[in-house]
Amino acid sequence: MSDWHPASWQEKLAKQQAKYPSIQALDEILDQLSQLPPLVTSWEVDALKSQLAEASRGNAFLLQGGDCAESFSDCTSPVITNKLKILLQMSLMMIHGLNKPVIRVGRIAGQYAKPRSADTETLDNITLPSYRGDLINGPAFTTESRTPDPVRLLRGYGRAAMTLNFIRALSESGFADLHHPENWDLDFVSHSPLSNEYHKAVKDLSNSLRFMETLGSAKNSELNRVRFNTSHEGLHLHYEQALTREVPNRSGYYNLSTHLPWIGLRTAEIDGAHIEYFRGIKNPVGVKVGADMPTEWIQALVERLNPDNEAGKLVFIHRFGAEKIAEGLPKLIDAVRQTGKCVLWVCDPMHGNTETTENGYKTRRFDNILSELEQTFDIHHREGSILGGVHFELTGDDVTECIGGARGLDEAGLKRAYKTQVDPRLNYEQALEMAMAIVRKTAG
Ligand code: PEP
Ligand code: CO
Repeated sequence: MSDWHPASWQEKLAKQQAKYPSIQALDEILDQLSQLPPLVTSWEVDALKSQLAEASRGNAFLLQGGDCAESFSDCTSPVITNKLKILLQMSLMMIHGLNKPVIRVGRIAGQYAKPRSADTETLDNITLPSYRGDLINGPAFTTESRTPDPVRLLRGYGRAAMTLNFIRALSESGFADLHHPENWDLDFVSHSPLSNEYHKAVKDLSNSLRFMETLGSAKNSELNRVRFNTSHEGLHLHYEQALTREVPNRSGYYNLSTHLPWIGLRTAEIDGAHIEYFRGIKNPVGVKVGADMPTEWIQALVERLNPDNEAGKLVFIHRFGAEKIAEGLPKLIDAVRQTGKCVLWVCDPMHGNTETTENGYKTRRFDNILSELEQTFDIHHREGSILGGVHFELTGDDVTECIGGARGLDEAGLKRAYKTQVDPRLNYEQALEMAMAIVRKTAG
C-alpha cells in the first residue's frame, strides 16, 4: 500500500463530485472537518468486519436498510426512532425465522450525498445544477439552493453526529432490549394484516429468550443491548477523506465517518478515484454491482478491494432487477469464484426495479422486489454460494412510494404520502412484510 494515502484519489478521475464556486472556501471547511472527532471508532469498525465475516460463512445475516437519501430536515426524534423501530422489528422476525444473529446496518447518519444521472436539470428554460443530496446543495429549484455550498459538509457532519448520538443513547438505555419489543411497536401493528404473524414471532422469541436465560446460556448484554451500525454511499470523496484517520495501536487508515461505506454503481470504475480511495481504508467496504459489468471488471474489483482475501472485508451488493437477475447473477458468482477470494453476497432488490408511472411518480412494485429477492435465494442456493444479507430502501413512516404489499397500494394511492427526495422506499408495513417473506423463503 506504499503508493496509497488518503488523498491519492485526487490524482484520478472522480465522477459525481460537486463543483464548488470557491475552492478556498471548500478547503477551509475541510480543514475544520479534519480536526473534528470521529463519528465511529476503529473498534466498532473491526467488530462489524468480524460479524460480516460470519455472515459470509452463513452464520449470521446482514440487514441493511434506510432512506435512499436522508435529508437534514428529517433529523428529528420521530423519524429516527421510527427507522430504528422498523429495523428492529424486521431483525426480530429474521432472528426468529432464520435462527441466526442479524447484523443491523442503517443507511443512516450520513446518507446525504447522491449520484445523479444528469449534472443539470432544466425546467421552464432554466437550467440549474442537479440536486446531489443535502451534503452538497438543496432540492429547491433556485440558483441559491442548487449552488453547492461547502458549509453543508459541516452541517452534514453535525446531523450525522446528532443522529448517531440519539441512536447510541437509545440503544444504551434499553430501547433496543430484545426483552422489551413493546418499545418498538409502531402504531400500525395493532391494525395491520401482518399483526398476528408479528406478535406470534415476538411471543415465541420472548419465550425462547427466557428459556435460554433459565439455562444460563444466554445471559449476556448482547440480548439487552442491540448494536446498530451505520453506512452510507462514500460518494463525496473530500468529505470521506477529511474523516479518514489513523488511530493509536492499529495500523492503517480508517474511515471514521461510518462503519460500512459503500461505492455506488456509477462510481465503481476500476481506475476511478472512488476505487482508489476505498482500496486503502481498513473498513469493510460495499460495492454495488449489477447487469452489464464484464467479468474482468468484477474480478478487478475483488483484487483491488480485497487483495489479502480477508473475510468480511468486501461486500458485493448486487442489484439486477427481477428481469435480469436470472441471467446476471450466476455469471457474477462465477466471476468471483474464479478469483478464489471471499466476498459477502448481499441482495439489493430495489435499484434494478425502479420505474416511472404515467403520472410521473418514480416507484417500485412490491412484487418485483420480492421476485428479485426470491430468485436470489434460489440462485445462490443452486450455485452453492451463500446469500449473506439484504439491502433495502425503507422508512419507518407511513409513506406511499412503492406499489403493492398486503394493503394493495395502487398507482392512484401513491400521491397520498409520496415524500422521498430521490428513490421510492418501502413503508413500515411493506418493509416488515418483506422480512416475513425472507423468513418464509428460507424456511420453504
Ligand atoms: C442507492 O443505493 O441509492 C444507489 C444510488 O444505488 P446504485 O449505486 O446501486 O444505483
Ligand atoms: Co436509491
